[in-house]
Amino acid sequence: MEEQEKKILCVGLVCLDIINVVDKYPEEDTDSRCLSQRWQRGGNASNSCTVLSLLGAPSAFMGALCGGPVADFIMADFSRRAVDVSAVVWQEEGQTPSACCVVCPSSGSRTVVLFDTNLPEVTAEDFSKVDLCQFKWIHFEGRNAEDQVKMIQQVGLHNSSLPQKQRITVSVEVEKIREPLYQLFPHGDVVFVSKDVARHFGFLSAEAALRGLYGRVRQGAVLICAWGEKGADALGPDGSVVHSDAFPPETLVDTLGAGDTFNSGVILTLSNGGGLQDALTFGCRVAGRKCGFHGYDGIAENSAN
Ligand code: ADP
Ligand code: FRU
Repeated sequence: MEEQEKKILCVGLVCLDIINVVDKYPEEDTDSRCLSQRWQRGGNASNSCTVLSLLGAPSAFMGALCGGPVADFIMADFSRRAVDVSAVVWQEEGQTPSACCVVCPSSGSRTVVLFDTNLPEVTAEDFSKVDLCQFKWIHFEGRNAEDQVKMIQQVGLHNSSLPQKQRITVSVEVEKIREPLYQLFPHGDVVFVSKDVARHFGFLSAEAALRGLYGRVRQGAVLICAWGEKGADALGPDGSVVHSDAFPPETLVDTLGAGDTFNSGVILTLSNGGGLQDALTFGCRVAGRKCGFHGYDGIAENSAN
């Protein structure tokens, strides 16, 4: 397979997002109307696939689903976006994850309550059945980290027999504040750490987080930290911090999935051989643009800007 035809695989969550758009975040124990409501395919890895496809990059998703009407909705939407779903793992038991999301344009907040605890995760054994030759990049959304480390080791083994140019690059995302996820830090060529995790470790800025957490990544890796409207920073092996400001939209509308959009912009640029500064700037540009409309459709309409 030619290098440029190879896909970007994202491993992680797919869920149903039931999105309520409100003019004001509701008080607890009240009964109010929202401005609009929609169903949307969600989950970090799944959203990143959506954005990659809209940006014109072939993408594939690997995650778990359980058959039923919610999974039908999700599969139809993957198909609409031309995301390759051949690596999806169908579970016999459990519930396809679903989230109630409250998007508040007047404040820019997005509040999520997710149920995703009774569907078995994708295992290292599932992963071993996937033909890795089709991919040039594999992105892991940190979830069942212990197993994901084993998956990354399989990628390492696959790479070890290949010349540098044909090797698969691995990125990992450490987004949630959960101790087991931190074992992923030393396993990515590119590591995304969230503002939440950075703050949890006591860092008050992206740059401080990068300097403080860089010791956890492996030699030669790039650590990236996005910080909402402050943009994003990255630190690579040369020790200098690279920064991009955010690109605020004219009107803030929907920040749900901004981080997943940013990750896709960065991954796409780096996977095409672009530099770190260009990757950060493009990630922030596309994520900022996404915040200016509901959902993801507008990304394709505006991607030439
Ligand atoms: P998430 O909370 O979805 O993980 P982040 O807050 O980490 O997302 O933001 C990811 C990127 O999205 C930021 O680096 C920035 O470029 C963009 N972004 C997020 N919120 C805004 C905003 N309010 N205005 C402009 N850009 C934003
Ligand atoms: C956005 C998102 C939503 C999902 C939630 C899960 O980043 O992936 O689509 O409901 O986060 O944490």
